[in-house]
Amino acid sequence: MTRYLALREPSANHVYTRAAGRLALAELALLCPEVTDVAPVELAGIQYLGFDADEVPERIGHHSALLALYALEDGDLLRPVAVERPELLDDDLVTIPKYPGKTNEQFTRLMLNLALAAVRRPPGRRRVLDPMCGRGTTLTTAVRLGHEAVGVDRDPKALDATAAFLKTYLRRGRVKHTADVTPIRRDGRRIGRRLDVALTPPTLQERISLALLEGDGRRSDELCGRRGFDAVVLDAPYGVVHGARRGSDAAARERSPASLLAESVPVWAAQLHRGGALAIAWNTHTMSREDLTTTVREAGLEPLDSGPWLDLAHRVDSSIHRDLLVAVRPVD
Ligand SMILES: C[S@@+](CC[C@H](N)C(=O)[O-])C[C@H]1O[C@@H](n2cnc3c(N)ncnc32)[C@H](O)[C@@H]1O
Repeated sequence: MTRYLALREPSANHVYTRAAGRLALAELALLCPEVTDVAPVELAGIQYLGFDADEVPERIGHHSALLALYALEDGDLLRPVAVERPELLDDDLVTIPKYPGKTNEQFTRLMLNLALAAVRRPPGRRRVLDPMCGRGTTLTTAVRLGHEAVGVDRDPKALDATAAFLKTYLRRGRVKHTADVTPIRRDGRRIGRRLDVALTPPTLQERISLALLEGDGRRSDELCGRRGFDAVVLDAPYGVVHGARRGSDAAARERSPASLLAESVPVWAAQLHRGGALAIAWNTHTMSREDLTTTVREAGLEPLDSGPWLDLAHRVDSSIHRDLLVAVRPVD
């Protein structure tokens, strides 16, 4: 048995402020269930994540905040340990786009990691849906890891900006690809547009697809199929847009993240394969964890609601306290 010390990316402190260490420990325990004695360790004034394992954990290279890994020897000597990283494309695919309302890249990776860790299906390439995908942080994060990604957002500017960015990025990076924006038609009528990108990462001789559809994520089944996803991953609207009290009650309800989630969770749950996982990040000021857990359970999913799964909440700013709930569609 070896004691390992993992050094966190310093940027994790900016993302989660004081909760960075706690979230990193929870993610480690959930991603690498084979490790034991997960605990913070301080050595010469530097904080590490400590854990015991027989060998380098298989999925440690996926951790959203891992900078470096060491084996602890002779009490206080650190031996660097090589870590296999799963990314097929550079991180600037995800970090270059900057816009208001973007979900932090590191947190997006954590959400995706934990959703995929919860999936109870044979290993392989996953199909991931983000039904409120904005400009596609979840989608590009999934594609970097070799998964297929489908997103929906009702904001037409999200599609335009994502199409423009991906076309330029892939052309400049000389990544083999196709990228097309085409109308979505129903009953002969044009109801929106879709962006379809297929790319071949230089280190993989297979095409990976990314699609972003313009439309209402509450009815993502009508746009991208009633079944067929291994994971549904989203950072739900925070409900902090000013002026939400103005207008009719119906309009206010439409904007309420709680009613939006109550309405949408059954749709998203049904889009999952059996053994697939749903991960929702949301502002707990708009809906309690208890209420969302009930909604998810009523939609036929099993919420993962014990141990480190309960240790993912953190403050974003004075009006947003974010949590992450992961639930699995039972296999039978
Ligand atoms: C917190 S943001 C997600 C940001 C995204 N993860 C990113 O990094 O770009 C929530 C998104 O939900 C979208 N949204 C809100 N209501 C929606 C609906 N009914 N259907 C589809 N998208 C919706 C908003 O346009 C916004 O892009």
